[in-house]
Amino acid sequence: MHGVAEILVGKRVCICTGSGGVGKTTTSAAIATGMAARGKRVCVLTIDPAKRLADSLGLDQLGNEARRVAPNLLQRQGVEMEGELWAMMLDAKATFDDLVARHAPDEEARERVLDNRIYQQISNALAGSQEYMAMEKLFELHHSGRFDLLVLDTPPTRNALDFLDAPRRLTQFIEGRSLRMFMKPSGFAARVAGRGASMALSVFRRIVGFDLLADLSEFFSAMSGMVDGFQERAKRVNELPADPETSFLVVCGPQGEPISEAVYFHRKLVEAKLPFGGVIVNKVQTGAPPGSPDGAGLPAELLPLLSDEGLADRVAQNFADFQALAERDARNIDHLAAELQTRDVIRVPYMDEDVHDLAGLQRVNRYLFGPRETREPAGAGRA
Ligand SMILES: Nc1ncnc2c1ncn2[C@@H]1O[C@H](COP(=O)(O)OP(=O)(O)O)[C@@H](O)[C@H]1O
Ligand SMILES: [Mg+2]
Repeated sequence: MHGVAEILVGKRVCICTGSGGVGKTTTSAAIATGMAARGKRVCVLTIDPAKRLADSLGLDQLGNEARRVAPNLLQRQGVEMEGELWAMMLDAKATFDDLVARHAPDEEARERVLDNRIYQQISNALAGSQEYMAMEKLFELHHSGRFDLLVLDTPPTRNALDFLDAPRRLTQFIEGRSLRMFMKPSGFAARVAGRGASMALSVFRRIVGFDLLADLSEFFSAMSGMVDGFQERAKRVNELPADPETSFLVVCGPQGEPISEAVYFHRKLVEAKLPFGGVIVNKVQTGAPPGSPDGAGLPAELLPLLSDEGLADRVAQNFADFQALAERDARNIDHLAAELQTRDVIRVPYMDEDVHDLAGLQRVNRYLFGPRETREPAGAGRA
């Protein structure tokens, strides 16, 4: 049975993927913490972490920069760490802005785009931009060489596969005919700009409240100098998921539907020749330990403790319900293991409490990494 540390030997990028709500953000943060505890310099890129988790990582403000989780903050939460833990919240808009800044030929062109209302709308709303910007940031940090390992929490898309498709969709948009058409010197934008004083335009301007077409025209002409740079960049970003130093971990829940999605997603990764690392089933009902009294004898055993027959019956019923859930989860996980042709399914139990701080992440890590004795020596597997 492999734990996360074994799966990530020799890896520099770990992409946690799966549909939303299953514990992806928690798992990503836990993996980063566990690997940092094992001596690596790790950065986790999270998306919309719960406020309390963000607080416990010292991410009190938004920002598009990696910050080190301060050693005294770790100490206060009782965490010892041989390596370094860094974290950042992904901010798609800020990443897009950085990208524009990087590709703009000069200061003026940069300002023209960033201040442009159309750009401001597009950079927020462009389909797939959040996913693409996650990859973009990942690529940037990967290239900086500052970290031994990057752990990426993927955006909560309805369909986990959208994420894989995002770079292609963005490139398509940039290469797209509509954009090209706008940007041709003789194109729509140029014609509109040339007729700036027309009656129709001034009416339009009154209706929408600002000079939409002038903004559009300016946006597209300012973007035109950057298209090649964007395309080249997107091409390189697209290569990162397939890199042999990348590993995809599929995170899912134990119910039927999440399990089917995980099976489907695994198949897609394999088809796309992307490096699948393993599957983590989170919030598993584990049931009673072996040797516990079974359902039939339970009310009698409980009665002396509870001294109320009705209550003893209800507690026993509740216990039976949990056992049924645990059996259902176990069956679903067997099915998953069979579909993936692996016995390496990492299970994390449904904890009694929410996981919102480093202590909680460490509890999760007992399951993600296995017993501490099996840990990898510090520094092993570094590129
Ligand atoms: N194993 C677990 N046991 C109990 N609660 C969990 C567990 N994993 C995650 N949670 C809780 O579930 C909620 C959703 O987790 P989160 O990681 O934000 O999900 P996602 O990123 O997939 O939407 C959080 O409140 C988190 O504390
Ligand atoms: Mg999340």
